[in-house]
Amino acid sequence: MNDSPGPVVPPITGTAETPQHVTIFDTSLRDGEQSPGCSMSASQKLRFAHALSELGVDVIEAGFPASSEADLEGVRSIVREVRGSSLATLARCHPGDIEACARALEGAAKPRIHVFISTSPLHRQHKLNLDKQQVLERAVAAVEQARKYVDDVEFSCEDALRTEHDYLVEICGAAIAAGARTLNIPDTVGYTTPSEIRALFEYLRDNVRDAHKAVFSAHCHNDLGLAVANSLAAIEGGARQVECTINGIGERAGNCALEELVMALRVRNAYYNATTRIDTRRLVPTSRLLSRITGMVVQRNKAVVGQNAFAHESGIHQHGMLKHRGTYEIMAPEDVGWAQSQMVMGRHSGRAALSDRLQTLGFSLDEARLNSVFAAFKTLAEKKREVFDADLEALVLGADAKAARGYRLVRAHVSTGVSDGSLPTASVQLVDPDGATVSEAAVGDGPVHAMFAALARATGVDLNIDNYHVSSVTTGDDAQGQASVTARVDGVELTGSGTSTDILEASALAWLELANRVVRTQRQPQPVAAPRKVAANA
Ligand code: KIV
Ligand code: ZN
Repeated sequence: MNDSPGPVVPPITGTAETPQHVTIFDTSLRDGEQSPGCSMSASQKLRFAHALSELGVDVIEAGFPASSEADLEGVRSIVREVRGSSLATLARCHPGDIEACARALEGAAKPRIHVFISTSPLHRQHKLNLDKQQVLERAVAAVEQARKYVDDVEFSCEDALRTEHDYLVEICGAAIAAGARTLNIPDTVGYTTPSEIRALFEYLRDNVRDAHKAVFSAHCHNDLGLAVANSLAAIEGGARQVECTINGIGERAGNCALEELVMALRVRNAYYNATTRIDTRRLVPTSRLLSRITGMVVQRNKAVVGQNAFAHESGIHQHGMLKHRGTYEIMAPEDVGWAQSQMVMGRHSGRAALSDRLQTLGFSLDEARLNSVFAAFKTLAEKKREVFDADLEALVLGADAKAARGYRLVRAHVSTGVSDGSLPTASVQLVDPDGATVSEAAVGDGPVHAMFAALARATGVDLNIDNYHVSSVTTGDDAQGQASVTARVDGVELTGSGTSTDILEASALAWLELANRVVRTQRQPQPVAAPRKVAANA
């Protein structure tokens, strides 16, 4: 056992010259993963742990090894490969749980054992059937046992926000004396309010014996939608670690969302005087990776990482954005990993935004022509919720639009290779912009990949696809599928979409729509435009 005194926590208030570091403890792989709809295989956990480490997370809670053999194995594989962040594992105050943590963490560069026990009267009586003294003794024994294996031990008082304050002071003091370096004060049921939790952290910092030897940590659940606000208030009260998850996943309504907390600290830096090690440009890619792994979709209007977080549709907002993006954005989309702001073209959009979007699509219209296209656009926007690039092209190109769009799909044949173990293969036949027939075939990792490869060969357009998405637009087993394909071309994000009852055909149509746009944009003389402040994107 190591007797080092543990960290001495700096004063509560940072200053502009000496901002305080807040440790980011990510529990997506533990609290997040144990919630409905978020389970991950061992290899998915490993992949995500690498992403968290690249994001700059200080501590990754990798799992709860005593919960299953699979969880233990999952933690072990993370321990073998992930070196940049501390790796924590969770244990109840049971000797067997702590041993499982120690086994799982063997060989870790920076191991941490996190032990917890319920402290609130409700939990003591109904869940544990233990009195205060018995809970305290178990906590002390667990911290001491964990310290035999590692120096870095965290102790959590489950349901702390509904625990008697004098008892919290007592048990936290005992945990520090037993060797805990981090004291976590969870709002397990998302019950507290910002001013209440701030006052509690101040009280604990002032009253717990040897409080300066430990880092106080907040772990807020989101049952009332207050997890981020409560975590920020805890920081104001002296917390120097926040436990959070990507996209806010976690038990019930989830945990404090890492991306929101980190960006609040960054955008309101002068207010909080606190910093983190997070590479904020990795927030959106990490959020998307988690969505892809779990299949849990991020709500469109979610702060920072939601699709609408930097999207503008109203004419007044679009006009302001085109003049100066500070008018309606408090952070740059690029700083959190988005390619750019989006101008969604709909019935609220104005002429300035339409003109900007048309220029991006390669059309430079004179005043009179722009006026007539704008009038047609407004009529269309009254009928459609969102006006896509293809609709705008059709408005500008009129009746000749179809022909002017370039390559057209005649037929496609795709085989998955599932039945006979052969490679997924696709062959396509197209008509090119000059009316000639082109046929090509290709293999790929999957049927869609093979078809896109065949289309790339047939058209000579090489698309670097950022996003491919299929959703159903009608219901029933004959539902229409809508596919969309997004790629960045010369720094601008372009999207193609296609609809069919056959999702492979919808995908091919989406790919071709995008490829035709690229071909046509590159043929058009580029308009001379003022330096772009935002790029429009439908
Ligand atoms: O919410 C909670 O109390 C927890 C603890 C195990 C830290 O997740
Ligand atoms: Zn929790």
